Amino acid sequence: MPSKTFYITTPIYYPSDKLHIGHCYTTVAADAMARFKRLTGHDVWFLTGTDEHGQKIERRALESGKSPQVFVDEIVDWIKDLWKILDISYDDFIRTTEKRHQEAVQAIFQKLYEQGDIYKDNYEGLYCTPCESFWAERQAKDKKCPDCGTEVEVVAEESYFFKMSKYADRLYQHIMEHEEFIQPSSRKNEMINNFLKPGLEELCVSRTSFDWGVPVTFDKDHVVYVWLDALTNYITALGYPHNPDKFDKYWPADVQLIGKEIVRFHTIYWPIFLMALDIPLPKQVFGHGWLLLEEGKMSKTRGNVIDPQVLVDQYGSDAIRYFLLREIPFGSDGTFSPEALIQRINYDLANDLGNLLHRTLNMIHKFAGGVIGEPIEEGEYDRELKELALATPKEMEKLMDQLQFSCALAELWKLIGRANKYIDETAPWALNREGKRFRLNTVLYNFVETIRIVSVLLQPFMPRTPQRIWSQIGIENQEELHTWESVKSWGLLKPNTRVEKPEAIYPRIDVEKEVEKKTEKKEKKKEKNKDKGEKQLTGNEINIDEFAKVDLRVAEIIEAEKVQDADKLLKIKVSLGDEERQVVAGIALSYSPEELKGKKVLFAANLAPVKIRGVRSQGMLLAADDGKGKIVLTGLDGDIAPGSRVR
Ligand code: MSP
Repeated sequence: MPSKTFYITTPIYYPSDKLHIGHCYTTVAADAMARFKRLTGHDVWFLTGTDEHGQKIERRALESGKSPQVFVDEIVDWIKDLWKILDISYDDFIRTTEKRHQEAVQAIFQKLYEQGDIYKDNYEGLYCTPCESFWAERQAKDKKCPDCGTEVEVVAEESYFFKMSKYADRLYQHIMEHEEFIQPSSRKNEMINNFLKPGLEELCVSRTSFDWGVPVTFDKDHVVYVWLDALTNYITALGYPHNPDKFDKYWPADVQLIGKEIVRFHTIYWPIFLMALDIPLPKQVFGHGWLLLEEGKMSKTRGNVIDPQVLVDQYGSDAIRYFLLREIPFGSDGTFSPEALIQRINYDLANDLGNLLHRTLNMIHKFAGGVIGEPIEEGEYDRELKELALATPKEMEKLMDQLQFSCALAELWKLIGRANKYIDETAPWALNREGKRFRLNTVLYNFVETIRIVSVLLQPFMPRTPQRIWSQIGIENQEELHTWESVKSWGLLKPNTRVEKPEAIYPRIDVEKEVEKKTEKKEKKKEKNKDKGEKQLTGNEINIDEFAKVDLRVAEIIEAEKVQDADKLLKIKVSLGDEERQVVAGIALSYSPEELKGKKVLFAANLAPVKIRGVRSQGMLLAADDGKGKIVLTGLDGDIAPGSRVR
């Protein structure tokens, strides 16, 4: 039984949409690491999952006309299929809507409240829904989220707050004393300089303006803030606090992999929550870089995301995994392009690896009747090859412990390169011609033994390719030759093994043809769109159908009053002709309740209902805002009945 445990996690993904290739990056890296640790004898627990609550998901669900639960269920099924085709070997998949998680979150919230770390107050500030993140006015310049650039919303509601400042010094000390805690170290400096040094603000940890979250047990108007809910998945999935067997075994996590934009949540909020719960901190949080496109960031709104399922269908999951792990030094940003992917496939997989196998098997068939002979006559170059083959696993292990996937693969490719050179150096065709049978057999044996070692070391990165190599070199059923133990010694391959006829494991892809195919497809699509009379859209434009989704109406204000304890808010009742609506509007500094009565204004009637400061708001009055505090309601150029459509 393996003795050392290894617990690795990915972020839990928002099932607000299908995932793109950028999301796969974290999970493929975590999977390679989990597989590497299993190979090297660790008892691994690999957790991934989905972050299903919050305002963003609730809105997306309403927009699509589904209940949030039905909406997320469909996407989660899709995500699980994606992980299947990418060979993600997770041990557990946590969904934050599961009972095991919700009950644990409720217990955690209650404990933090009872011990005095959480208190009730009112929140007034800014909120970025895509990031589910609170911002102060001074942080969100021009009302834009500092992380994603989206316009933030003004939020004013009753909330519970967590006393972050109480733990700030302890966290600072922990970070300073544990060099390995935040990696790469540039991210550590960023956290210290941008967040810890200026002083931590207390964090709002509950919401009252919508319902899609874990209810606070002792105050039913509140749901737990989605980041507190989400971050705790790493321990609730291990059974904390009710069934802590796995928690006792695997916590603290060895590595928590995350993208760079969520380092703040994982190295400030998360450790502070853990400190408050009196739980040790994870050993390492690693914030990797982004996978970008040549034109910049991938995003659904820009419409430039790369669908991983299409890539896997086209090139196979091992090739995609290889590209993601090899192309970009883990920690830095890197670019994805179809051309770069095809180049990796052609040079590294088809030429270097594929040809080594192909040439070797061809020669064994041509010169030795398809059977691996005995290695009895040593010669020049053998030692160098063997030494490198035996040093490679250790070198890779060292690099993997630093999460340097691309360097670890580069090491493996050094060995592949060395073996290809060994073919040219030993010239088996000449040995055959000269009748040097013993030397020829030895050389051929050495090729296959190197290929075997390479294939064992490939497993964590490309789980399918090794099987194909093993069946070609005739060791498919010899499991003892697939282990980490087996790459510590040279010469375990049994002479007299029969090999298969070579079959290209990675046929070369013709870049030009591939690009041509793509351009043709694009052109066809354009033509089709033209036929439909549609124009191609650039980033920020919307088409008429999208605009028509907003149900704009004329509304007549019937009455208005101030919202208690909120300087800027008015509760307003409007008539839409045959229907009355109540809305909360942030216009109290520009209009008194009295002057509003009887005004006819433009009104967005099909916005999803929300609660603001506990008051239900169903729709929105349209107003112009000069950015300096002046707000003017939109009027109408003449009288018209309330409820009339605006288009
Ligand atoms: N739900 C939160 C995480 C909660 S963890 C307690 C979240 N979800 S996410 O779906 O938006 O992002 C999940 C991960 O995908 C993040 O680590 C993010 O960095 C990663 N990526 C999303 N796009 C990416 C790229 N283009 N490139 C690399 N990683 C990217 O944040």
